[in-house]
Amino acid sequence: MIFTLAQLSDVHLGPLPRGAIWRDFSPKRIIGGASWLFNRQHMHVPEIAAALRADIMAARPDHIALTGDLVNIAAPAEFPRAAQWLQDFAPPADLSFIPGNHDTYVPVYWERGLKVLEPWMKGDMTVANAVISPLLATPFPYVRLRRNVALIGLSTAVPQSLRKAGGSLGPGQIAAMAHLLRQLRERGYYRAVMIHHPPLPGQNSPRKALTDAEAFTEVLIAEGAELVLHGHNHRAMNTPLAGRHGPVPVIGVPSASMVEGGVRDPAAWNRYTIERRDGRWHTEVSVRRWHAASASLVDADSFQL
Ligand SMILES: [Fe+2]
Ligand SMILES: [Fe+2]
Repeated sequence: MIFTLAQLSDVHLGPLPRGAIWRDFSPKRIIGGASWLFNRQHMHVPEIAAALRADIMAARPDHIALTGDLVNIAAPAEFPRAAQWLQDFAPPADLSFIPGNHDTYVPVYWERGLKVLEPWMKGDMTVANAVISPLLATPFPYVRLRRNVALIGLSTAVPQSLRKAGGSLGPGQIAAMAHLLRQLRERGYYRAVMIHHPPLPGQNSPRKALTDAEAFTEVLIAEGAELVLHGHNHRAMNTPLAGRHGPVPVIGVPSASMVEGGVRDPAAWNRYTIERRDGRWHTEVSVRRWHAASASLVDADSFQL
């Protein structure tokens, strides 16, 4: 039996809604808004994100993982539009979303912010010691079981001070993960972990890094995972980790809206073809990448994990 999983990340959906920068005064949002107007809006193109979404829909994967940074400055007006974008993409049962640092760019109460995206981040089983917060009032980690694949969503989204783009899991989620990964391994599930920030120490400068990368990596080494998916760096990344139960592939995709020829990798998404064969898991990765000349996505790389 084959299961196909699509991963996209960092949609950074534009353009910014009118008035989004000035409404609800926040210095960080003004700086982020200025950065969007002068710089980022030329790199993140909504038409590219739409083409990438259509390409995934045409491929009809069994499930879709969206690893954070759906919006830009966490303006309340950005969230309903982001929910509509997901609505036009896939039903909540078929798409799992986790937040990134831009989705909690400044503190926005749940009811005015991430709540509209809750259907895409709701687990289907109770996780012992899962964490909730005023900004994210739905439990993390969450788990969704789809055939013999367990999708595990984590949140590293915590509002950051002015110049920072880091993230944190916190001790609660890390403790919950140790238990959860062990339990799902013993039950024979393929464990696909979704986390916005690259989870390994040294994968980012301190300004942009996951603060508790070391503690989480210890859990990954001890309990294992068949696949760890992240975004945040806007680059294609593939960093194997040696776990006690076997290799733990850690994979990042570029931003889903990024132009070609910029300072970051052009937009791309990964398809993971997962199969249980001869008593072990096999994962094949194929990359679809934005190609500006044909204004479409084309086959790029493919490799085995
Ligand atoms: Fe991002
Ligand atoms: Fe990010």
